[in-house]
This record gives sequence, C-alpha cells and structure tokens, in this order.
Amino acid sequence: MAIPEVVRKPPFNITRASHVYLTVRDLDASRRFYTEILGLVVSAQEGGTLYLRGIEEACHHSLVLRQDDAPPACDAVGMRVTDAEELALAEDHFARAGITARRVERPYENGTLRVTFDDRSPPVELCAGMPLLPRLLNDYPAQKGGRALRLDHYQCVVPDVDATAAHFMALGFRPSKFTTSVETGQIVSIFLHRKNNPHDIVLAQGGGPRLHHFCYIVSDLAALLRACDVAASFGLGRNVEHGIGRHGPPNGVFAYLRDPDGHRIELGLPPMQYMDAEERANTWDSNQGQALIPWGALPPQRWREEASSFAGVDAGEAPAARWLPQV
Ligand SMILES: [Fe+2]
Repeated sequence: MAIPEVVRKPPFNITRASHVYLTVRDLDASRRFYTEILGLVVSAQEGGTLYLRGIEEACHHSLVLRQDDAPPACDAVGMRVTDAEELALAEDHFARAGITARRVERPYENGTLRVTFDDRSPPVELCAGMPLLPRLLNDYPAQKGGRALRLDHYQCVVPDVDATAAHFMALGFRPSKFTTSVETGQIVSIFLHRKNNPHDIVLAQGGGPRLHHFCYIVSDLAALLRACDVAASFGLGRNVEHGIGRHGPPNGVFAYLRDPDGHRIELGLPPMQYMDAEERANTWDSNQGQALIPWGALPPQRWREEASSFAGVDAGEAPAARWLPQV
C-alpha cells in the first residue's frame, strides 16, 4: 500500500507527542527509578498517582504513573493540541468521521479527548493544555541521574502499519522515514511527526497494539552514561537493555532501559531537525539494517519481542520482530 498524501491543512492542530500514562505495581520503586536514574522531577503526587516532567519541561506532566495491582500496562499515549478551541474542532471532526472519541477527566489537564481509532491502533488522548511549572534546566542542585530534558516520541507495535498510519496522516502527521519489507513490499515501520524533528509517533509491525517504548531526550553522552551508571548503583544495571549505541538516521545515540515493571524507556541525544514542507521521507528496505545500527551490539531478543500492553486492549499474539531490518 502506498503512503497517503500529506494533509497540509489538517482538521485541527496537533502540536506534538506530549505524555504517557502507565500503570505500575510499586509506586515508590517507580518513583525512585524515574527520579534518581532518569532524573525526572515530581510535579505532583496524589494518592496512588505520580505526575512527572523533564527538567526542560514547563507543562505539568509528560509521564503519569498510577499504582495498580493489575499487570502493568499503558493507559494511553498523549498528544497536545494548541488549545481548547482546537480540542472542540477535534471533537467535531471525530464525530463526523465516525471515530470513537469521548471527553475524559484528567487532573492537571485543561480538557482531554480520548480517541479510539480502532482495536488495532493505540488509544490516544488529546490534551488542550496543562498548568505551567518552573523549568529546572538551570536549577543544577535539583538535577539527578540522566537529567532527562523532555519527552520526544513513543513507538507502538501495531498489526497493520498502513491502516494505523493512515489515521494519523489524516490528522496532518508527516512521514519522515519508512521501511518496506523486501519480501512483501509492505510497510513494516514508519516515523510520523508534527513537531520539528523526525518523530512524534513511530509505528512498527507486530502483534499489538502495544507500547514498545517512549523516549526522553538527554543533553549529551555524559548524561546518558550517568543514567546507566546510576541504574547500576541501584542494582538495576541489567535494566539497561540495549546500548549505548547509535541508530543511523535520525542521528540518534541511545540507551534503552526497562523500568521496575518492564516498561521500556529510550534515552536519546537531541535528534536532527526535520520540518520544512518540501522535505521527503527517507525510504528504507528491510535489508538495510546495517545502516540502522552501524556498529555495536544488536538488540537482544527481548527488545524485539516484549512491549507494554494497553490497558483493556486485547493485543493477541506477542510482538514479533518483523519490523526490524536485517543486520
Ligand atoms: Fe525511539
């Protein structure tokens, strides 16, 4: 299937991937992991829910952890629209399009619309605004671990990349890179973006929908290394699952870590700029893995196969490695 045409004037304005909702079994253990190792800061903790943000972030939260005895899951991935007026346009658009979307109450969010495209795509919550808090970028005594700056993107495993990508492209997402299978010609992964770098949401083929990882940007290699060192100091050295390594485009240097519940986080250096309308997506095929991971160790099998479930969504078979190019 061909990539759909880019929609230059979308029905409403999504600005970026902005937050992730997870459930965890031990909130104290998760708080220690995210604040001491990643270096996120606490915006609020109420009952069994913890709201976190990166040190560069002024909006209230980019990660919300809710304690739950059920198996760990992702409640939703979150995106920002410009404001409440754009959220109302979104509500009208989905009603006309026959796509399920309902208002939900989320603390510290100025209007939230939960969108369910279909049972093979991740649940998305569109948020119209959040309270502002101080940026801690220059508050050096407050900074810990990897000094994570900001949420950048998330990657979801989905069974039909074409179909899920079409939902997002209808909302103005642009492809910056996609990979096709040399055997079937099918698209097996695609990077989609709204902000000025190559990815807000990445879709990869496999059993899903599941959340494969979410990514925070760190300032430099020293911060990346320090996060891994602090993980080891807490006895979590083997939670550094893959990396430190380099992806090819978009010039990413990465480490992937698993939190105490197995949710996967990527820490990465700032990605390249990708924003001008005339830019075209990079196309790869599934034999070009050498360029994707030019040196160092390949991802372990668990990185290829394991991902977080979405709460209440039956994802069927376990995620497969069909989307990863051969190396
Ligand atoms: Fe990533």
